[in-house]
Amino acid sequence: MNNIGLIGLAVMGQNLALNIARKGYSLSGYNRSRQKTDEFINEKVKDEKIYPYYDIKSFVESLEKPRKIILMVKAGKPVDDVIQELLPYLDKGDLIIDGGNSYFKDTNRRIEELKAKGIYYLGMGVSGGEYGALHGPSLMPGGTKEAYDMVNELLLKIAAQTESGPCCTYVGNYSAGHFVKMVHNGIEYAIMQSISEVYDVMRKVLKLSSEEIGNIFEEWNKGELNSYLMEISYKIMKHKDEKTGRPLVELILDEAEQKGTGKWTAETSLDLGIPTPSLNLAVVGRALSFFKEERTKISKRVQRNYPTGNLNRDEIIEDLKNSLLFAVFASFSQGLWLISEASKVYNYNIDLSEVLRIWKGGCIIRARILDFLREILSDDKTNINLLNSQKSISYLEEKLESIKKVTKLAKDFYIPTLTINSSLDYFFSMSEANLPANLIQGQRDFFGAHTYRRIDMEGIFHTEWEQD
Ligand code: 6PG
Repeated sequence: MNNIGLIGLAVMGQNLALNIARKGYSLSGYNRSRQKTDEFINEKVKDEKIYPYYDIKSFVESLEKPRKIILMVKAGKPVDDVIQELLPYLDKGDLIIDGGNSYFKDTNRRIEELKAKGIYYLGMGVSGGEYGALHGPSLMPGGTKEAYDMVNELLLKIAAQTESGPCCTYVGNYSAGHFVKMVHNGIEYAIMQSISEVYDVMRKVLKLSSEEIGNIFEEWNKGELNSYLMEISYKIMKHKDEKTGRPLVELILDEAEQKGTGKWTAETSLDLGIPTPSLNLAVVGRALSFFKEERTKISKRVQRNYPTGNLNRDEIIEDLKNSLLFAVFASFSQGLWLISEASKVYNYNIDLSEVLRIWKGGCIIRARILDFLREILSDDKTNINLLNSQKSISYLEEKLESIKKVTKLAKDFYIPTLTINSSLDYFFSMSEANLPANLIQGQRDFFGAHTYRRIDMEGIFHTEWEQD
């Protein structure tokens, strides 16, 4: 009898299987196509106790009870299909863990459907790509605590290890795990977009080569900006194409693809009424990038008058660094706020500080700044967007002149900076007591009698504006 089963032997599934087996567990593997299973067993598996199965029945029967089965299949219908295939062979008390990027509402539905059959279900965010799956991912499991306890020990062992512990915790009830992973990806999109905007200013304003930008990013990665995304960005900037010898990044088509998690984050933020402009604009940025043909046509119609005069290269680089730190902070602030609201609305019972801790290793958004964010939160647990603290305000205000200069510079050079702009506007909005929404309320009341409240007296008011 094997300790655990894994279905879906694409690269992530293969690597997770190897990781589990290398921690001393015996594993049954199954994949819909036999060929993939055989390739994996023949080419990747050495001494690990990984055993292939070619039909669901014998796969399930090979597992010790209560059975624990990890699904590493594509989000959406394939998850439902596999569950349906498994169900006839499962017993009450068995556990299914979905390790894909499933939409959190699907996870809620599956938890309910399986609960009715006595089957436990965990929705588990897995971050860290192929490398993370093999050497230690960040794991975000959610569902019932009872279900989590069945695999707690195994998950803690296979997760990335940091000085503040393994990057896995019981995230919370229902689809809490997949929700947190979704927002992780929303933040991921925003940071990627911000780094790309900084790159754009460097190449178009400072006329730096990819190699030079790579060197700057590499330097930044040694300091406050230290993070996985900074690290891969400097490596990408320096990578030379084998065929042409040119920096490969310059040869990649500028159309950013997406699989949906960033869009779900943006949609959910609108549903829950939590402002996450940097996360949302990062999705918009990808959508804009996709219209290459239209952009190219329109670009031929516009007249541009670029500023002349000397630029202080070192000063601009410093301003860009500060702007990036500002945008990264704002992105985490928005993401945490969204998680916190969802935790209330959906009764997830998520500990934000634990979320920050398990993002410290293994995952795509791991970054040095997470320690600082945890410190801010530990000063005041109710400071869910991190902004209501003197530490945060000083941190952002120290960078304010830089980000103001960068947004202005970008505009002077006609460079879109969607997430950097929106991070600044988020801060301006959140630190402004008086927004012009009073006029919006007046307009709503004017054309639709939607009523408004007043600052000088209690009650709901409506005005016959035309008579004024
Ligand atoms: C991770 C990544 C991972 C994946 C995303 C990328 O945490 O390991 O987020 O889940 O790379 O699917 O998403 P897009 O294809 O939408 O960019």
